[in-house]
Amino acid sequence: MASTKLFLIFLLAALIATPVALAQLGGLLGGLLGLIHVDGVLYCSLNRKIDVINGLNTPSFPNASVQLQCGAGNVVSDTTTNGSGVFSFVLDPLQNILSSLLSNCSLVVTTPLSTCNASLPSVGLLQSHLQLVGNTVSGGLLRIVNLIPAGFQLP
Ligand SMILES: *[C@@H]1O[C@H](CO)[C@@H](O)[C@H](O)[C@H]1NC(C)=O
Ligand SMILES: *[C@@H]1O[C@H](CO)[C@@H](O)[C@H](O)[C@H]1NC(C)=O
Ligand SMILES: *[C@@H]1O[C@H](CO)[C@@H](O)[C@H](O)[C@H]1NC(C)=O
Ligand SMILES: *[C@@H]1O[C@H](CO)[C@@H](O)[C@H](O)[C@H]1NC(C)=O
Repeated sequence: MASTKLFLIFLLAALIATPVALAQLGGLLGGLLGLIHVDGVLYCSLNRKIDVINGLNTPSFPNASVQLQCGAGNVVSDTTTNGSGVFSFVLDPLQNILSSLLSNCSLVVTTPLSTCNASLPSVGLLQSHLQLVGNTVSGGLLRIVNLIPAGFQLP
């Protein structure tokens, strides 16, 4: 961590010293200092993909625990859906490399589906890979990378 901070200080010092490089390295700096957002809606359904129009008809899954797991099941972050089934993670890009988030991380719902609908299975946890939807720029420099669940399913 100390060496990362030191690196950033050197990078910033280099950028201050050479204003031309600032424009060229703006993308790199944004990539380094931006945040990664993961936002989604969880539905009380077996294999509900995000569908804005039909989503109005499908009951959401409130109060469900959602974990971001990477590698062999390491919990990187966790949150709980709100009353509308909405959940959101904000991740530090210095600790979460985007390519590995997309390739080797999953959202795992640790609350069984039977909690929101007794007719649905009580075993097996809903899981989804992550999907990149794009970048937004906040405050001119801070890049926000937006990820959504690719679609929740039982394994
Ligand atoms: C969700 O949790 C809140 C606070 O614990 C509780 O008041 C609410 O009734 C719960 N909602 C559902 C649908 O379980
Ligand atoms: C990450 O990759 C390993 C090995 O390919 C695999 O066993 C594991 O299930 C993957 N983890 C996630 C969360 O995708
Ligand atoms: C859940 O969060 C979303 C996004 O922040 C918000 O629009 C919605 O009103 C929230 N629902 C409840 C019941 O708090
Ligand atoms: C509960 O799940 C069953 C089976 O999928 C479905 O037919 C039923 O409509 C669901 N109930 C509610 C209240 O969503």
